[in-house]
Amino acid sequence: TVHKSKLIAGNWKMNASLASNETLLKAVLEGLGASVCDVAVCVPGPYLAQVGGIVSGSAIALGAQDVSAHPSGAYTGEQSAAMLQEFGVRYAIVGHSERRQYHGERDEVVSAKTAMALRHGITPIVCVGETLAEREAGQTEEVVKRQLAAVIHDNGHCISEIVVAYEPVWAIGTGKTATPEQAQAVHHLLRAQLHHAAGDHAAGIRILYGGSMNAANAPQLLAQPDIDGGLIGGASLKSADFLQIIAAAN
Ligand code: G3P
Repeated sequence: TVHKSKLIAGNWKMNASLASNETLLKAVLEGLGASVCDVAVCVPGPYLAQVGGIVSGSAIALGAQDVSAHPSGAYTGEQSAAMLQEFGVRYAIVGHSERRQYHGERDEVVSAKTAMALRHGITPIVCVGETLAEREAGQTEEVVKRQLAAVIHDNGHCISEIVVAYEPVWAIGTGKTATPEQAQAVHHLLRAQLHHAAGDHAAGIRILYGGSMNAANAPQLLAQPDIDGGLIGGASLKSADFLQIIAAAN
């Protein structure tokens, strides 16, 4: 068996301010204690410098919420992996369902972003997940496999360096969590797919669950054999909740 520590990553989405970031992180750092799981916060671009300064030297790693698929040039509004790297970014979310839904990100783009992050030593957190309509149509397996296959196809042996996040779209921000059994079933098939691509290295790839994870449901979700952590939206904005989730992963 591979001994990998769990990863609890907060995704603040578009929620932040200089003052609230400081209050939140101060409380999390104070409550963190000797946590053994890995912890990260994925923050909006304008706050990378501020948050990087606050968490520097601590157990909290800095993360971004997206990364450009392009190295540099005429891509107004985008942030390159090299730029993120300059600010000490360790993780970058790619292919979040909100990017796929509102910004038309397709599997090929998600895959290119993954490659770009890997090239700059940033660990991509690759998000996959089905919509409610897809689940009800019995397409869950097909959808998540297609999304992950694109990333595997383009990233070859580097695939063991990624983190995967299973985020059922119907569970995001809805308060409707996948049951531990529902989540485990999908994580298990993602693990099998990774194993097919990466062999024994797949056991070391962390597969996070995301979608209304909170202090109450985290212990059961994190107890599942193929759930290696969480990608936390709303609950990562409240220090007490975030700390309880971290405690559940320890
Ligand atoms: O990336 C995390 C996410 O999409 C889940 O959000 O608010 O349901 O925890 P939330």
